[in-house]
Amino acid sequence: MKPLTFADVTPESLYLNRRQIMAGMTAMTAAALAPRAARAEDLKPNTFEEITGYNNYYEFGTGKEDPAANASMLKTDPWTVKVDGMVDKPGDYALADLLSGLKVEDRVYRFRCVEAWSMVIPWQGVPLAALLDKIGVQPSAKYVAFETLLRPEEMPGQKMGILDWPYREGLRIDEAMHPLTLMATGLYGKPLPNQNGAPIRLVVPWKYGFKGVKAIVRITLTDQMPQTTWNMMASNEYGFYANVNPNVDHPRWSQASERRIGGGLFGGRQDTLMFNGYEDQVASLYKGMDLAVNY
Ligand code: MTE
Repeated sequence: MKPLTFADVTPESLYLNRRQIMAGMTAMTAAALAPRAARAEDLKPNTFEEITGYNNYYEFGTGKEDPAANASMLKTDPWTVKVDGMVDKPGDYALADLLSGLKVEDRVYRFRCVEAWSMVIPWQGVPLAALLDKIGVQPSAKYVAFETLLRPEEMPGQKMGILDWPYREGLRIDEAMHPLTLMATGLYGKPLPNQNGAPIRLVVPWKYGFKGVKAIVRITLTDQMPQTTWNMMASNEYGFYANVNPNVDHPRWSQASERRIGGGLFGGRQDTLMFNGYEDQVASLYKGMDLAVNY
């Protein structure tokens, strides 16, 4: 596929080009991006300003505008990622070395926060599966765990006990290997802005946004289900799986609908889709599981 450059296009022209873009994609990716029953405007990307101006990143404050205001103080170069646990090639990798040889892809994904707001984001990144293949996952590994940088001098929120730092997340290996799972390094054709998790963050489009750990400095392959930040904070509210599910409400609010940031053509609220619209691609991962118990 010809690499797509978002740098000079507006979301509107991107939307008009969508058919053309999809024509060039592999069948798997195109299927992922054209979910059943989705209206075309469901995948109209939010503006760059919306995506980079309304964020959750508690290392820089709890307000939605705090990350945009404060995240520039984080130094993202040089950047080292520790790879450890059940892998063939553990080590401390310079980010460029970790990513070398991996193909950066464009993925326009829905993004659904557990707080019941949503966006559509044109990411660039490498499939996590390709990265895991490169470092060599051993058969004993059942999960992959991620950690955010711990650097309170540059991440002032870490001086406060809002969360148990560093921010941690994890996936089951089959979730991590799924072709939709992305390690994002950019959006709108630009390097990932600091407030969105530069220089590298996780994107799992069928899960609530809190799974998308930002500023990753450690990737650990393990046979134990990893501890994850929001689950540690309130396990009755935030599960390990965190699959988007309109039928399982948060204890304090409904998950049946969502507020699309920017309002789009329709404005207001829209129905939340099972697995955020990626049901055809991912439902088989959870076959036989009670999704109300494994939320
Ligand atoms: N990663 C870190 N390190 N710290 C955070 O506070 N917030 C999470 C997730 N990743 C968070 C994080 C939450 S709650 C959401 S909804 C998404 O990042 C928000 O991503 P965005 O700001 O790029 O939209």
